[in-house]
Amino acid sequence: MSPAPAVIEVRELTRRFGTFVAVDRVTFDVFEGEIFGYLGANGAGKSTTIRMLCGLLAPSDGTARVAGIDVGRDPEAVKRRIGYMSQKFSLYPDLQVLENLEFFAGMYGIGGRRFERRADELLQTMQLGESRHTRTSDLPGGFRQRLALACSILHEPRILFLDEPTAGVDPGARRDFWRLVRSLAVRGTTVLVTTHYMDEAEYCDRVGLMVDGRLAALDSPAGLKQEFIRDAMIEVHSIDDRLRGVVTRLPGVRSMEPFGSAWHVRVQSGASLDRVVQSIMALGVPSGDIESVSPTLEDVFLEVVGRAR
Ligand SMILES: Nc1ncnc2c1ncn2[C@@H]1O[C@H](COP(=O)(O)OP(=O)(O)O)[C@@H](O)[C@H]1O
Ligand SMILES: [Mg+2]
Repeated sequence: MSPAPAVIEVRELTRRFGTFVAVDRVTFDVFEGEIFGYLGANGAGKSTTIRMLCGLLAPSDGTARVAGIDVGRDPEAVKRRIGYMSQKFSLYPDLQVLENLEFFAGMYGIGGRRFERRADELLQTMQLGESRHTRTSDLPGGFRQRLALACSILHEPRILFLDEPTAGVDPGARRDFWRLVRSLAVRGTTVLVTTHYMDEAEYCDRVGLMVDGRLAALDSPAGLKQEFIRDAMIEVHSIDDRLRGVVTRLPGVRSMEPFGSAWHVRVQSGASLDRVVQSIMALGVPSGDIESVSPTLEDVFLEVVGRAR
């Protein structure tokens, strides 16, 4: 379907730990220049998949080819061609920003003029120029993250694996980080990124949803919404738990689930939204606290998890 070639080809990839199956016959392709989001709750098998694709963990079964190389047969060749930012990225806290870059450059065999050029470039892109002599442990979380990203792309890999790169940083830093990832992809880098922030998945071209080691759904964000959420959705801002019992019995209402500090009421397509809204108002909820909303990937995820289990 896609004109771009597949640069990551995963077929029935499986990893067992003893009798426990952490990754269960997962199959997908990632195309050149694509941002592929790999989503799932803690323990779903995201890191285990990434570690196999990076040549750090041997598959129990199935195959994966990264840049055409079989990860089980030649993991060392895979490692040279990819960038990898691990979930607990391993910067040296006592080193200055530039010294960390220098250390990782050494591991990739990048030195001299090439290092200077690349370091300048990365410090600028990652907005770390003014922090080049700051001790890494003194950097705010968002800065450390950008430095870890810089270290993982020093050797200009065409394929980049990011394992929960934005865990634990504030929303502003997360947005900045995604802008950087997007700019890499625009220039042709293929990115496979895991996250459990559903809002971040909206930035991805396609998203795979992992549930208990299985790839339970795979499509673009819009495609997933269309496939899994046909219903209309009303958000009701109320913390009144008693509403639920009444609202779920209204004609046309399929479900009412907590969503942050509000409720998401799903109304079957074809049923009258207005009637449902009127009925909720009649229960004492002000009209300003009821709004029609578009389904989010979080809604999709809840639906997919529900069906998979
Ligand atoms: N080395 C290991 N030995 C045993 N179990 C493991 C090992 N690594 C991961 N697991 C288990 O495999 C499952 C998937 O883990 P992981 O891939 O880290 O999930 P995620 O990254 O989606 O949070 C978890 O239940 C985890 O405990
Ligand atoms: Mg993980």
